[in-house]
Amino acid sequence: MERLLDVSGVTAGYGSITVLRNISISLDRGESIGLFGPNGHGKTTLLQTISGLLTPTQGTISFNGADITGAKPHDIVNAGLIQSPQGNTLFGEMQVLETLELASISKRARDDKASNLQRVFDLFPRLDERRTQKARTLSGGERQMLSIGCALMCSPSLLMLDEPTLGLSPRLKRELGDAVGNIAKSGVPLVVVEQDVEFLLSLTERLYMIEHGEVVREIDRASAPDHNSIMKLYFGEAAH
Ligand SMILES: Nc1ncnc2c1ncn2[C@@H]1O[C@H](COP(=O)(O)OP(=O)(O)OP(=O)(O)O)[C@@H](O)[C@H]1O
Ligand SMILES: [Mg+2]
Repeated sequence: MERLLDVSGVTAGYGSITVLRNISISLDRGESIGLFGPNGHGKTTLLQTISGLLTPTQGTISFNGADITGAKPHDIVNAGLIQSPQGNTLFGEMQVLETLELASISKRARDDKASNLQRVFDLFPRLDERRTQKARTLSGGERQMLSIGCALMCSPSLLMLDEPTLGLSPRLKRELGDAVGNIAKSGVPLVVVEQDVEFLLSLTERLYMIEHGEVVREIDRASAPDHNSIMKLYFGEAAH
């Protein structure tokens, strides 16, 4: 089967600092994957490299059958590979509706603005209720919804989410998890970065554990480890 995304032997970083070392991950058509691992070990760097914000010094990246290694970020967006970044990257003074409209300016998504907007408001009714509210006055959870909404305004054919539930209460995390699950069910495959392995397994079929910029383990949902084994992955044999 042809792969949707193929990252092969990629080395990348920031100037003289190498973060990713010969890393390979892939996504078959119709599946979603998760990435997890300790803080500062390269998960965000990997997404930034796939999005074209960083250029690999070695290796190749292909998406939908096309080589996108070294391609410009806007060309990658136009190809349908969309990233919702980690943390708050919204413009505080802009209203919810303005923010979503601005996100749809890419050539790819311009004509689908109205239907994409409807899709975002169906998925996140809280945003619908807050159309004219400024981004800086939204709660943390609502800001995450708006970030994901912006990614959906780009008509993604692959959506990469970097820690979408960071800092959210368990209830809001479940709510956002349900919405993200619905995005996948609607036919948009996902690459999700999260620290919570069980949460990731509820959303995606396969996980990669990343340490020191390398894949150190792959986990299949079909043969998923139990909670204790997952804890051992993080804390070593001392965990129970
Ligand atoms: N712009 C930058 N310039 C230099 N080094 C950077 C830059 N951004 C990240 N790094 C470094 O790259 C390494 C990997 O960071 P990255 O953000 O990819 O980790 P992460 O796995 O996403 O961590 P977290 O779980 O905390 O989000 C870290 O050592 C970080 O300090
Ligand atoms: Mg990160």
